[in-house]
Amino acid sequence: MSSTVSNERDVFYHNVDVLEQRKKGDIFYSKNGLLKKMSFVRKLLFVASKVFYSSYFNQVQSNLKDTINWVVNNSKVGDKKVVSNFFFNKLAPLSENIYDRSQIQGKTLSVLRDSLTEENSQKNNAKKLSEFNEEFLDAKLATYLGVRPVKPGVGNSESYILKDINHRKVGIFKTSTGDSLSRKSPFLPLRIRNQFLYFIGFGGSIFKHVAGKCHISEVASYKMAKKIGSESIPITKIVKLDPLGYRRGKGKETDGSFQLFVPNTIEAKEFLNVNKNYVKSTKPKKRRIEKKLPKPLAEDLIINDVIEGNMDRHAENWLIKANKRKAKKIVLIDGGIAFSPTHANSIFETHKLYRWATFKLKFAQKRFSPEAKIRIKEIYDNRFELKDDLNKVYISNGDKEYVASKRANRMVERIEMLHWFANVKNLRKYKLRSFITSRQVQKARKDLEKSEQKKSRS
Ligand SMILES: Nc1ncnc2c1ncn2[C@@H]1O[C@H](COP(=O)(O)OP(=O)(O)O)[C@@H](O)[C@H]1O
Ligand SMILES: [Mg+2]
Repeated sequence: MSSTVSNERDVFYHNVDVLEQRKKGDIFYSKNGLLKKMSFVRKLLFVASKVFYSSYFNQVQSNLKDTINWVVNNSKVGDKKVVSNFFFNKLAPLSENIYDRSQIQGKTLSVLRDSLTEENSQKNNAKKLSEFNEEFLDAKLATYLGVRPVKPGVGNSESYILKDINHRKVGIFKTSTGDSLSRKSPFLPLRIRNQFLYFIGFGGSIFKHVAGKCHISEVASYKMAKKIGSESIPITKIVKLDPLGYRRGKGKETDGSFQLFVPNTIEAKEFLNVNKNYVKSTKPKKRRIEKKLPKPLAEDLIINDVIEGNMDRHAENWLIKANKRKAKKIVLIDGGIAFSPTHANSIFETHKLYRWATFKLKFAQKRFSPEAKIRIKEIYDNRFELKDDLNKVYISNGDKEYVASKRANRMVERIEMLHWFANVKNLRKYKLRSFITSRQVQKARKDLEKSEQKKSRS
């Protein structure tokens, strides 16, 4: 940098000016700490050097990065609006190769952070943010500063893993319109497929009442788990966010679910050594070695899935925290395809419900433990309270009342079936696959009623 203070300030303001006047397509370079716009010829040279892996490209980028970091480090907090506009609109689109967001610190960071919570914090300034809100705010801030989210998996559904400015994964955001089964999916081939399947009546109520509501079901799954004392589902809430804020400019926020990220996990399929559908070994030549899943964890998975009526619990949708060979904790993710207002009657649905219930898996061969049976009885006794809560979650997020009440009734019926299954019949877990359709569930409930009557007579 220049030697005198006043010179340094001049350089600073010059650089801020250049960045503020940035237009799409502008490419900068830095000469002696001064930012400059590339001329046409220089741009050609620059692009060519990138194509031919010349060191010129790296040199330009590294100088530029130093200068931008220096500007960011030296920006003092002035007018809030100016700061926000500069960071959220002018700097946010810059690539992470030349602009390291973790350089934003101290007062500037807290002013930017506060500007995202203004509406709420004016009312209750003193109130401390919950852990969830703190985490979400970190992710939201980073997103609007231009830290790109990661798209997990095949990218058909609109999910984004959001990071903070230090690149720590904070949580997964799923937009209300973006799920892969939605008839309004932003992804055209999926939209056509889903419209078609809906039109020919394939897929039960999935295309009508489950798709497009996945973000609510994520939250509902978490709330029900919490209600029954399960800690297997990370905190999940409805939030507003523009996941591509850096591209469109802050302000076009949509509803979606946000679930906190659990670090250091492995997918269940890896732990159990099966493929996604629990069928074959992932390493065909070797003998299948299934590591032991402790009973309380397996039973928590099963109880949660019956409550949700989860139709997407393949072996990539639950994660395991393990040390060496032993599982310490399970993490149930992706509760989007759940709480259908009808039981699983179409082939499309029966095939998907309780995927893990196969004789091949050791944990599914067993009966419920005495502890689990007590727990299931307690859930059964509380079923109408759970029903009210579930109803509220869906209605408060815009679901139609009659649909929400059907969802809640089907859940109550599944709970009654589970109570009968574990406490009256004492069946092995994999047999749950025989209690999926309306007819099967109602049969179990009738039998439960009979046995209750018998008990009260004697
Ligand atoms: N709460 C979480 N903690 C850790 N990893 C997660 C979490 N949620 C999602 N993931 C990771 O992101 C991937 C996609 O998430 P998922 O909820 O299954 O979304 P999709 O609807 O795209 O299948 C998962 O396979 C998992 O690796
Ligand atoms: Mg998934």
